Amino acid sequence: MAVAVTGATGQLGRIVISKLRAKVPTQSIVALARSPHKAAGLGVEVRPGDYGRPDELVSSLAGIRTLLLISSSEVGQRTVQHRNAIEAARKAGVRRIVYTSLLRSDTSPLSLAPEHVETEAMVRASGIPFTILRNGWYMENHTQSAKAAVAAGALIGSAGDGRIAGALRDDYAEAAVAVLTGAGHEGRIYELAGDEPYTLAEMAREISTQVGKEIPYRNVPPAEYASILERAGLPGWLAAALSAWDADAARGALDDQGHVLSKLIGRPTSPLSVAVQRALA
Ligand SMILES: NC(=O)c1ccc[n+]([C@@H]2O[C@H](COP(=O)([O-])OP(=O)(O)OC[C@H]3O[C@@H](n4cnc5c(N)ncnc54)[C@H](OP(=O)(O)O)[C@@H]3O)[C@@H](O)[C@H]2O)c1
Repeated sequence: MAVAVTGATGQLGRIVISKLRAKVPTQSIVALARSPHKAAGLGVEVRPGDYGRPDELVSSLAGIRTLLLISSSEVGQRTVQHRNAIEAARKAGVRRIVYTSLLRSDTSPLSLAPEHVETEAMVRASGIPFTILRNGWYMENHTQSAKAAVAAGALIGSAGDGRIAGALRDDYAEAAVAVLTGAGHEGRIYELAGDEPYTLAEMAREISTQVGKEIPYRNVPPAEYASILERAGLPGWLAAALSAWDADAARGALDDQGHVLSKLIGRPTSPLSVAVQRALA
């Protein structure tokens, strides 16, 4: 009986598959992909897994014991898409669902939260034993701007002094694998975040140290940040969302001191310096 991973061609999904391969026999892993051609090279069985095709999901989940439902990237359509996946799991006789949600989804002010709250409710209502992984911020969300910040001479954002308990996708993937392959996680909700919260000013200092040049953090109001991002070529909706999430971070929405992620993976989470180093490479 196998483990299936949705969104297996995504950044998190690929890391999960690779870490799973190190823990369980390759034949017991199934990658679900809406674009199976993108999954070549994952080294495991690939089955079609488009959230918009419920019947396809039911047949692709045949023989699957545990489903890792990685939340879809199509914000705004996710409740319906996740409902399709959960319903398909029920019809296919899946015995356990592990779902990647959002840190403190039930109280989070982030615009991303409601779809996760709705999905968690659907997972519970399915009657299938479950584990919820409430993933905090990916460090990469901010460090991906490191090179642009160096080129521009400043890191710009709207997160003020808000502490961000980010962690690498690698660490969240490792937690997912620990839960998928371990025992005693049923019914548990894990609030996952990095061990060492940082501000964007601290991130700018880390970038400065690594490039050997002063790159200050420039905090601007969210509307100004959104228009800077739009002028840099981002679509308006994304610029607005990124600036709103920074504003939420300024109010502490991405902070955490629970250290649940490091307990789950059995080591401290990777420090910010590693994320910055990767982003600058
Ligand atoms: N915690 C955070 O900071 C944070 C940040 C960003 C995203 N997230 C969430 O975490 C998830 C995983 O992150 P990621 O970095 O791996 O995102 P990603 O690289 O964008 O991957 C998203 C995956 O979802 C798949 N997908 C999208 N629409 C689908 C559909 N209709 N049917 C089936 N699959 C579909 C994509 O398939 P294709 O490969 O075919 O495109 C891709 O495999 C995201 O989807 C999002 O919900 C969290």
